[in-house]
Amino acid sequence: MAFDEAGYAAHIAELGEQWQRALAEHGFEAAVVPAGEAEMFFQDDQAPPFHPNPHFARWFPDDDCEHSVLLVRPGDVPKLYFHAAADFWHLPPKLPDWAAEAFDVEPHQRHDALRGALAHDLAKLGRFALIGPAASFDLNLPLAAINPKGLVNNLVFARAEKTPFEVARMREATAVGVRGHRAARDAFYGGGSEFDIHMAYLAASSQQESKLPYPNIVALNEHAGVLHYQHYDRQPPATRHSFLIDAGGRSGGYHSDITRTYSATPGDDFDALIQALDAKQQGVTAAIRAGTSYVDMHRHMHLEAADLLVRFGLVTCSAESAFERKITDQFFPHGLGHLLGLQTHDVGGHLANAAGDEAEAPERFPSLRYTRTIEANHVFTVEPGIYFIPVLLDALAESDAGKDVNWRKVDALRPCGGIRIEDNVLVTAEGVENLTRPAFAAEQ
Ligand code: GLY
Ligand code: MN
Ligand code: MN
Repeated sequence: MAFDEAGYAAHIAELGEQWQRALAEHGFEAAVVPAGEAEMFFQDDQAPPFHPNPHFARWFPDDDCEHSVLLVRPGDVPKLYFHAAADFWHLPPKLPDWAAEAFDVEPHQRHDALRGALAHDLAKLGRFALIGPAASFDLNLPLAAINPKGLVNNLVFARAEKTPFEVARMREATAVGVRGHRAARDAFYGGGSEFDIHMAYLAASSQQESKLPYPNIVALNEHAGVLHYQHYDRQPPATRHSFLIDAGGRSGGYHSDITRTYSATPGDDFDALIQALDAKQQGVTAAIRAGTSYVDMHRHMHLEAADLLVRFGLVTCSAESAFERKITDQFFPHGLGHLLGLQTHDVGGHLANAAGDEAEAPERFPSLRYTRTIEANHVFTVEPGIYFIPVLLDALAESDAGKDVNWRKVDALRPCGGIRIEDNVLVTAEGVENLTRPAFAAEQ
């Protein structure tokens, strides 16, 4: 990865200033940031894939860092206690060149020795904070604070604003995902099963499953109505109606999160609904500006969904009534989107400010993950959906509002499962940039 070209040094300099301010504000002399380690399964010598502490990953954007620790002390070059075991069972990590330049590196072959050296250094410090998984640390130092809320909120709040380096990573993560999406679409139209499509995605995006940003959602027919559908059927269905794929890519630990939906029969009613939702998605996306409210955007998308339900004859009342009486909630039961970064559902979407005040989700939309004000350099998803989910439709049918639903039309679409269109966007000083659409256009 050409980190220098993508502004890694500037990114590190900006993090240094950000952490210096945060530590001073909360009265800490330093922060200790462990990368963490994977926990073994019960009575086993195997563990799930290692995911580094995102506070560590923001400084050190590479997964090969298990057991390493960073000491951030304003005024000093950050010190990296780099763990590279003298191991013949596994290949030890190699210190990347960019890390050798950015940090004062102290290599260790044993993690107990690493922690001993760290404890020795920490004993000389004043009040310091540990930011990250603390379970295996026996700091036992009176001036240690473990994940102090104020400081953590401060750092988490700041993480929503991406540096140019981070934006470059997310553009690359998008390109990776889009390569997979194109192959997946072709595999679907070629008659593949969910499993075939999943494998085509992995191969084309050159990703191993354990390194995906999140498990691929590869859903044919009614499986598209299972929001986080987790299986890969080996047999294609006898009749193909629809295909929903929610799958992303990673670069330097940063994620993309992309969904597309296709009709098996382009030109049919379901396809028309896909195109109409796609147009609405682009409409709400184009209106994004720094300083506006994502909660308002979410509400507006519900009104747009209501408009589609009326236009396609799925409900017989007005769009306003479909919204007011919460009919839209049964067709669009998740939030419009979320912050994106080192985590697919990046943290900090509910923080109103760096002090940690909560921006609560509205009572009607408890699953909305992004309730703070939209700001320049935020990267987030816009992912409206319209689904035909049996358990929600059953509840709607039993409610008073059920009489305003055209069940013949709704039932005809049930085998298609649902639609989600998901892009990733960057808020700029002037407006908004859709990261996903140009990548699809470029790959054509
Ligand atoms: N892929 C999970 C989500 O879209 O939030
Ligand atoms: Mn997604
Ligand atoms: Mn998403």
